[in-house]
Amino acid sequence: MRKIKDIRPLKWEGDALLLLDQRKLPHKEEWITCKTYEDVAKAIEDMVVRGAPAIGVTAAYAVTLGAKELSQKAKDVNEFKMLAELVINRLATTRPTAVNLFWALKRMKSIIDAGQNINDILLALETEAKNIETQDIDRNRKIGMYGAELLGNKETILTHCNTGALATAGYGTALGVIRAAYEMEKDILVYVDETRPYLQGARLTAWELQKEGIPYYLITDNMAGWFIANDEITCIIVGADRIALNGDTANKIGTYTLSVLAKEHGIPFYIAAPSSTFDFSIKTGSEIPIEDRPPEEVLYCHCSDCRIAPEHARVKNPAFDVTPHENITGIITERGVILSPNETKVKKFFNLDEEC
Ligand code: MRU
Repeated sequence: MRKIKDIRPLKWEGDALLLLDQRKLPHKEEWITCKTYEDVAKAIEDMVVRGAPAIGVTAAYAVTLGAKELSQKAKDVNEFKMLAELVINRLATTRPTAVNLFWALKRMKSIIDAGQNINDILLALETEAKNIETQDIDRNRKIGMYGAELLGNKETILTHCNTGALATAGYGTALGVIRAAYEMEKDILVYVDETRPYLQGARLTAWELQKEGIPYYLITDNMAGWFIANDEITCIIVGADRIALNGDTANKIGTYTLSVLAKEHGIPFYIAAPSSTFDFSIKTGSEIPIEDRPPEEVLYCHCSDCRIAPEHARVKNPAFDVTPHENITGIITERGVILSPNETKVKKFFNLDEEC
């Protein structure tokens, strides 16, 4: 077995949450200290931390911080619960697409609802946030194991965005599959899409692969079709921000295009995601809210004031797209793989009631 590094995007310190500032990577490894839930909310909005599972874990710690702040202000447990709801509502406004945020907030809210006194709630919230964090790493390792089993001994894998340790509590989802295959000493080569406009591939995935010593090529997004057509890619593995009941999957903008290329050229297209990324309340991907991000991300070079486009250029900047389930070879979860996903298979896989 090869050894891999323990990269983490966050550290809980009991009275503060430290976040690795992902905006500064790969050039600087700087940590930001969040002492209040509002500090964390801003950090999520500003992309200090990003990636669906990482946003969920971060928000869980933010609720813990918020509850500690409220415990100084609230005159009784009822007022505490009422104010805690405002904290949760604020955190829910930070980013709309990744369902892991709402999933984690729901878990934290149920702890608050069940609590009888403020001190017990504070302790239980901290424990729950830590559980969410450790469960995420555990799930990612299982996803890695199931995903690596699908791969041959020699594979050239194309991936998009950053789905690694930085996008989760640790290890990663799609990049977790790549890590697991590397740990198992499979002969893998990774093609990393730079992932315009925010460059999560070029800045973050390349940084992680470099740290691990996993061989990779960085390519621009528009090169993918050429390499696939020339048989340089044997499979595509990406992550997810929200998966509908029928398997339709929202992920970083550009994912849908890759799925079409995979279908056209007959190569497997896998989604790797924990069960916390499924949204069973929506039937299809058309119900997934897609975040629109600022035009500046498209108009300017990342990390510089250099403007690319002329003055008055009009911009569209959706952060995610939806890949229809028909284009997906399989969804790799911590419970196993859903091959050729559809509503019936997803319901069966998760033992959901018919009326769900
Ligand atoms: O805008 P981001 O960087 O938060 O988008 C992240 C992605 O789209 C990831 O692919 C997804 O969250 C899966 S992360 C394991």
